[in-house]
Parts: sequence; structure tokens; C-alpha cells
Amino acid sequence: MKFSNEFLFGAATAAYQVEGAWDQDGKGITNWDEFTKIPGKTFEGTNGDVAVDHYNRYKEDIALMAEMGLESYRFSISWARILPNGTGKINQKGIDFYNKLINECLKHGIVPFVTLYHWDLPLPLEKDGSWLNKKTVDAYVEYAKVCFEAFGDRVKHFITFNETVVFTALGYLTGAHPPGITNDPKKYFQATHNVFYAHARALIEYKKLNQYGEIGLSHVFSPAFSIDDSEENQFAQLHANQFNTNWFYDPILLGRYPEYVVHELEKLGYVPEWTQEELDTIAQAAPLNDFMGLNYYQPQRVEKIDSSFQSKELTRENSTGSPGNPSFDGVYRTVKMDDKRYTKWDWEISPEGFVSGLKMLKEQYGQIKLYITENGLGDEDPIIEGEICDIPRINFINDHLVAVKAAIDNGVNIKGYYAWSAIDLLSWLNGYKKQYGFIYVDHQNGLERKKKASFHWFKDVIATRGENL
Ligand code: NOJ
Repeated sequence: MKFSNEFLFGAATAAYQVEGAWDQDGKGITNWDEFTKIPGKTFEGTNGDVAVDHYNRYKEDIALMAEMGLESYRFSISWARILPNGTGKINQKGIDFYNKLINECLKHGIVPFVTLYHWDLPLPLEKDGSWLNKKTVDAYVEYAKVCFEAFGDRVKHFITFNETVVFTALGYLTGAHPPGITNDPKKYFQATHNVFYAHARALIEYKKLNQYGEIGLSHVFSPAFSIDDSEENQFAQLHANQFNTNWFYDPILLGRYPEYVVHELEKLGYVPEWTQEELDTIAQAAPLNDFMGLNYYQPQRVEKIDSSFQSKELTRENSTGSPGNPSFDGVYRTVKMDDKRYTKWDWEISPEGFVSGLKMLKEQYGQIKLYITENGLGDEDPIIEGEICDIPRINFINDHLVAVKAAIDNGVNIKGYYAWSAIDLLSWLNGYKKQYGFIYVDHQNGLERKKKASFHWFKDVIATRGENL
């Protein structure tokens, strides 16, 4: 089977991870500009001040993407470039930059797929309560409208938020991301609700403009599977999926929260403060959502924790920057299994889990339109005789594209695949050691770009529409 001609082969990045130019041309300061400079927060104190300088080298990077045959480029807009204080005054140079980036893509026939929020929040909003403050929701809607009006004539695919579970769970449970708060489930659930409400309002605004594009959201897709057939671990699977999938997908796709989770939160006293108007808006927006973006890296293997388990403490060790799965209530834990394969960063490699998870998703939500908005392998790539031989990445992407094919054969409605990442970039907490890209960046040599083995391989996959996978 070949992938159809409409299927989009792409690759992705995010502003903070590639752009650099952190204070260039009137950009405001963000939560990440501040957070990464606090000692001990990131690997060897790395930050995105320069990153891979995509802001100044976007032409070269897009030319390389075009050479690879990429059909679409998923990138994010830095809110603080457009509105340096989060609201109010617009920075024209920020608008100009994204216009140039978008036009460069279009010049090469590359479809721009634009994420509005990939975790970098203007600092004044962060200081004013971040996603706990409903004013941040108003500010987000203002920002989204500016973007729709400035870019929507040429951008026909918008993603409102990237991986809501990560910036909320790591922000309020593990403290690994800004605002760095630990063990506060009440705040975590409040932040998630505020984000879903912001998404809903942005959708309503987008549709009012009649721009005839599509809009959706990208979630972590990390289905939970029980480690065995025992009743208690099957329960752990259900509980984990309710909290980590349904809590996130139901409000977007069905316009309501899952009853099971709401009931559990009532018992624990963690129900977010929400108004009827907010809940109605979420319900009103669900049918306007055009697609769901899935970021798939790994599934979760779960087992029930017996009631004598004491620790509800979440530390960086037991809930890392990997696709989030906070067992904040001590009901289950995620485990590493002897018969599974893992990356150097202990992320499970499981194309099978991808296919099974996609089937589960179809059973629950029907044939919703899906894009795989991220999938890829974080590795330290071997350099052999000057060439970057990232064969494990080729194998990883190969096997996951085969999984996508299998899912499409099973009736799952997948319209595109975006590898993470187009180019090596800053891993939020892991510096530049953990590489994902098709294009290597030489930090010892003036950020020179180099094509990896996977670059040539992916070019061939696109040219043959995956026929030889
Ligand atoms: C998902 C995030 O969207 C991206 O920013 C991150 O670098 C990758 N996962 C890898 O951790």
C-alpha cells in the first residue's frame, strides 16, 4: 500500500526549541527564558537564547526541508514575539518574521501547520498566575485572533495548544516545567480546564472569520495498557486512561468532561472552579474542532498500587519530562517491563502499542480526523567517518509509519504524519544531547547544518509515498 497523495508527510519544531534570538526585534521575555536560567533546572544549564538560530537561518532550514521533499512544516509561533507583554501592543517585527517564514514555506510548496501555543508564555502573564488566572484565557484569545487575522489567509491548519498534559502536569505536579510548582493537583486540574476553555473560545473566534481552514489541538497520545490480565491491573488501565486520555480528549471532542473523573475529583476535592458559561462554551466548541493531533512516543504500562502504598510524592524521577502520566492519586504506577524495548532515555519503543491505542481511540471517538503531529526517536546519534549514521531513528520512524499504515487499513482516519523533529533542537530539559532531527546542527562549528542518513531515507519515503516500508 502507498500513502495517498493527500496524506501530508511533514516534520515539526517549536519556537523556543529552535528560534533563539530570545530578545531580538522587540520580542518579550517568556516563562522559559526565565526558568531555564534558574540553576539546576536544565541539563548543564542549557537554554534557548540561541537554540539553533532558526530565527536568523530559517531560509537555509526551509531550503533543506524542501530538498528533503517535506510536504508540510509544523512550527509554533512565539506569543511574546507578537505581543511582548502578552496583551496590548503588537510587535510588528514579530508579525513580519512569521510572515516571512510562512511565505518561505509556501514558496517551496510546503504547507505551514501552525501551533499557537507550544509552552512559551509571555512573562507578565506567567507572573500574574499563568494558566490558573482566567485573564490568561482572555489574553490567549486576543493573541489567537491576532494570529488568525495576520496569517490565516495563508495558513490553513492551526493547532491551538501543544500537549496540554505536559505543561500543566509538569508545571503543577512535578515542577519540572514553569511555574515549577510541585504536588498541587487542585491547581493542575484548574489549569487544564482553563486551557480547554481557551481552546474552545479560540475555535469560536476562528470560525467567525470564515477563513476556510482547519483548527484543532495536539495532545499527548500515550495509551495505558495493563501489565497483565489481573482484575486489579485492568482497573489500573481503565483509571489511567480515564485520567490521562479521557480527561483531555472528551472536552475537546465531546464537549464534556468524563463522569468517572469528575466523580473521583469530587471525592478528592479537586474539581476545578468552572462556570456554567465556560462549560457551555466547551460544549458549543466541540463540533467546531476539525481534527485531533496526536503526539505519540510511547504507551504506558500500568499496574495497580496496593492501598498500603504511601507516597503520593511526585519527583522528577517518577514522573519525568516524558509524555506525562501523573499518578497523582497513588492508584497506579507506570512500570518498565523486561520484555519491552527502550530508548537511552527509557522511553518504550512500541509501534504495536501505537496500533492498539489508535484502535481504542476509534472505538471511543469514532472516525475523527487525526494527524500524527509528533513521533520520533531521541538519541545520541553516532558519527562515523564524518557522517551522521542515525540508523536507529530510521528504524523507529519506519516501524511507526508501518503502524500508521496498519491503522489506516483498520479504518482509522489519519491524514498526515509529522516526524519530531525537522532539525536537531533544544530538548527542554536535556539540552542538545538528546537529538531528534533529520538535520544535524554542529554546535562546535558555528551551528553548521548537516544532512543525516535519515534525511536521505525520509526523502525516499516521501518520494515513493511509503511504498517500500
Ligand atoms: C513533545 C513536545 O511537544 C516537544 O516539544 C518535545 O521536544 C518532544 N515531545 C520530545 O520530548
